[in-house]
Amino acid sequence: MTSDVEFRNVSKFFGTHAAVDNISFSVPAGSFFSLLGPSGCGKSTTLRMTSGFEFPDRGDILIAGENMAGIAAYRRPTNMVFQRWALFPHMTVFDNIAFGLSVERQPRDIIRRRVGEALELVGLTQFASRKPRQLSGGQMQRVALARALVKRPKVLLLDEPLGALDLKLRMQMQLELKRIQREVGTTFIYVTHDQGEALTMSDQIAVMNNGRIDQLGSPQEIYDHPATRFVAGFIGNANLLPVQLAAEGAGRSAGMATVSMGGFTFPTQIAQEPTGDKGWIVIRYERIRVGDAARAMPIRTQARVRDAIFAGSTVHYVMAIEPAGTEITVETGHDGLSSPLMQGSLVDIGWEPGVTRLFGDV
Ligand SMILES: Nc1ncnc2c1ncn2[C@@H]1O[C@H](COP(=O)(O)OP(=O)(O)OP(=O)(O)O)[C@@H](O)[C@H]1O
Ligand SMILES: [Mg+2]
Repeated sequence: MTSDVEFRNVSKFFGTHAAVDNISFSVPAGSFFSLLGPSGCGKSTTLRMTSGFEFPDRGDILIAGENMAGIAAYRRPTNMVFQRWALFPHMTVFDNIAFGLSVERQPRDIIRRRVGEALELVGLTQFASRKPRQLSGGQMQRVALARALVKRPKVLLLDEPLGALDLKLRMQMQLELKRIQREVGTTFIYVTHDQGEALTMSDQIAVMNNGRIDQLGSPQEIYDHPATRFVAGFIGNANLLPVQLAAEGAGRSAGMATVSMGGFTFPTQIAQEPTGDKGWIVIRYERIRVGDAARAMPIRTQARVRDAIFAGSTVHYVMAIEPAGTEITVETGHDGLSSPLMQGSLVDIGWEPGVTRLFGDV
């Protein structure tokens, strides 16, 4: 597979602070690639270096195989969509989208055809003569997208483009964006701090933490097999519990180790080999079974229900594992049929050995 964008050991410093710290990755042509991470981890800086609004202090950036060192933004085959759409308020939707082509002095009939195609792509054909203030937030976002796509960039860079929309509209636009990306086949590099957004849309996700890439993989790989404690905690709802490792070699086989937590001993998958005899296990809320379902699990124990948090389609129960009281959160589906667990009651909980992942103490 050819790659459209490649970072080779790229760093960017602001003063002495490495906003981007020696990252390498490549984005396959025609794919939807997301940079995901918390505020300040270096996502926008990475995107701005791709577009040529910033330049790296170290390393190389290649686009379509060509080194971008010293190449200005306007000469790169990229285009950017921002969180704040910055449409021209006095121009119609049509003229906003046509702007870039007019600047290039494209012939009028070509502009009309390409803007027409772009309007159709984003479903705004009948809004061509409106002004931005006569549009909803989602419609303005579509205009911004059409304006970026009409110039047919090789790579489209999107920096939290849905951040200003409400949740419902954001989810609808996520599906729209994915459809449009498939339809035009342009490579998308999408920046977000919203894990749900990244999981829904991406072919590949690079999870960033403090200027570095902690893990790069498909949404499912990252969700099911987080490579670091940070990734495990950042994506999805997970318990992070301190454990003691069994004596050297005991219970070791094919990537599994035996650990104990307040007297409760069980096998776990090893994600990262601990250096000492202490570590952490990560277990997702929804992988823990309760009651009858727990009794069929190879690993099981008892826990006391402390608290219930109702979240609509699911309920989170905060429990204390007996006898030591280690706190664990369990998610159950709220199907309206099963009766809720009573606070203070003692219940069975259990899981499969493959669902816990062991990480080192750092
Ligand atoms: N022009 C600048 N001058 C100095 N420091 C900067 C500059 N731009 C970014 N930084 C710093 O670099 C780090 C990374 O910033 P960046 O904007 O890439 O983060 P981000 O992941 O996009 O965060 P957010 O989700 O909040 O947008 C931050 O610590 C930020 O304060
Ligand atoms: Mg940013």
